[in-house]
This record gives sequence, C-alpha cells and structure tokens, in this order.
Amino acid sequence: MKVALGSDHAGFPLKEKVKAFLREKEIDFTDFGTFCENSVDYPDIVVPVARGIKTGEFQYGILICGTGVGMAIAACKYTGIRAALCGDSYTARCAREHNDANILTLGARVTGPGLALEIVDIFLKTPFSGGRHQNRINKIAMIEKSERNFY
Ligand code: RB5
Repeated sequence: MKVALGSDHAGFPLKEKVKAFLREKEIDFTDFGTFCENSVDYPDIVVPVARGIKTGEFQYGILICGTGVGMAIAACKYTGIRAALCGDSYTARCAREHNDANILTLGARVTGPGLALEIVDIFLKTPFSGGRHQNRINKIAMIEKSERNFY
C-alpha cells in the first residue's frame, strides 16, 4: 500500500504525527507538503495527491487542513476521487466500507491527534464492502459523467 500525504499550514503538525504513525506501521508514503507552518492555499496541496491516486501510484490519500472541509471540497472536484472528512471512528469505517473513499481528510483544529491516528488506522485497514454499495458508487460515477441530475 502506498499513501499520498498532504496538508496546509494548519494541518502540518498533525501531518508530522501521521508520518510517524505510518513509519511505525511500515506503510509506504510520499509527503507532498506543506513542509512548515507558513501559510499556503490548501487546493495547491490537493492537486498532487489527487493526481497520484488517479494515476494509480497511490492507493489512498490523507489530506489535513484546519477543519478538513476545504481539502474534501477541493479533492472531490476530481473525477473518481471520493474524499471523506472523518472526525470519528465510525465514520472512518463507513467511509471505506460503504463509500469506498480513497482520500481521508482530517481537521487538525477539530480532531485531536490521538483520535486522528485511530481514524487513520481504521481508514487504511478497512476494505470496501461492495454489493449494494457498489451500485451507489456507480451512480456517483454517472453523476460525474453527466454533470447533471439524472433522476
Ligand atoms: C486555514 O486557515 C483554513 O482555512 C484551512 O486550514 C481549512 O480549515 C480550510 O478548509
């Protein structure tokens, strides 16, 4: 498994903790920045992470900003990207089982580091359930294709 990591300035300290956690678990990752707490624009960080998933180089992405909201909005603009903002373990599990989320977003100003690492752990080890959930993922893809409500 290869994970693409990114954060803005608000998410930088938590990203460092996530990196230590991934090293401990021997999970391969690439850090696409930012690399300090100087202010940056979160959409700039989304670009390499989302592209890396779309090309298949990375299985999952983890994007961290202050709330996780901006990262999720920007990442979901990419076709085939299903970014899930998770602030609890249940949501993290369902984001994988039900939604086949390929990017986890975290809010570093909202979610403490202990819970954030638990969420990362659950997200990375939970498989997609498929079945009826696959039908729903297919419908999301149809919306992406048509760019209009097809109902
Ligand atoms: C940065 O101040 C903040 O807006 C950003 O980290 C994030 O919370 C946006 O969604």
